[in-house]
Amino acid sequence: MVSTCQSAEIRSLVELSPDHPGFLDVAYRERRNEIAQIAYRYVSGEPVPAAVYTAEEHATWCQILALLRPQHEEHVCEPILELQRKLPLPRYQIPQLSFVNERLEPRTGMRMEPVMGLVNIRTFLSCLASCVFPSTQYIRHHSRPLYTPEPDVVHELIGHMASLAHPHVAEANRWLGRAVLDANDTELQRLEYVYWYVLEFGLCEQGGQVKAVGAGLLSSAGELSAITKGPVLMDWDLDRIARTSYDPTCEQPVLFVAPSFDRLLSETIAWIRRGAWRDSAVQALSSPEEAIAEAPVALG
Ligand SMILES: [Fe+2]
Repeated sequence: MVSTCQSAEIRSLVELSPDHPGFLDVAYRERRNEIAQIAYRYVSGEPVPAAVYTAEEHATWCQILALLRPQHEEHVCEPILELQRKLPLPRYQIPQLSFVNERLEPRTGMRMEPVMGLVNIRTFLSCLASCVFPSTQYIRHHSRPLYTPEPDVVHELIGHMASLAHPHVAEANRWLGRAVLDANDTELQRLEYVYWYVLEFGLCEQGGQVKAVGAGLLSSAGELSAITKGPVLMDWDLDRIARTSYDPTCEQPVLFVAPSFDRLLSETIAWIRRGAWRDSAVQALSSPEEAIAEAPVALG
């Protein structure tokens, strides 16, 4: 039973900034609070309760998916496309996290658990260690279907679901999570940058072309269609990535291109496992020779 005082608190769980597309929409704000209550009450490990979506919300999902589908075929790397074909998302209805988990868990052990909104980076990455991917359930405002200032269910499911079904992507997520459990704040920042430039905005070469791997690209029609035109494309260098800050509120000016999908993952996992993110390792990188550490882990 929730007390009257707590009920009032729950009703205002979600704060939107004045420049949010839904800031002036009272009905949207109410919907955000209703959906946030699921995460507020959720107990980790339990089945995820369904979020009941409105017809307008389903229509927004349908509109975005229809737009992104052909862009994925053109710009997304083949291993992720293959998983999208094996695990198709419903076209006309926003799928529930329970639907996603029924498909993800048997494959890689990863599962999505609801959160109200943006989670601080240490909490978010730490969850990955225990195979939990914190996921929002609300959808962006219908007035701006191609824009959201924060992660929403479109980003979580169209961006992350298929890739989390890949065993090596799941492994990279878990290794990042384990590292964070033992990282100080500067080490955490390096791991955060690697998460961002590899799993959110990573690119790889495929048959002489540059293809998208990261979830941030897969869920952003504008950035996906411009991956070879907009950002400066940098050579793959995890030590450099770990020193490269980012701004999540704008289109990314710089992206890093791995030589292949497999190397993107195997070298990232090896980089994390050998502790290249630790202060002691970074301080030791006083010469290029010292920067060349052990060989990447071979992925079978
Ligand atoms: Fe994401």
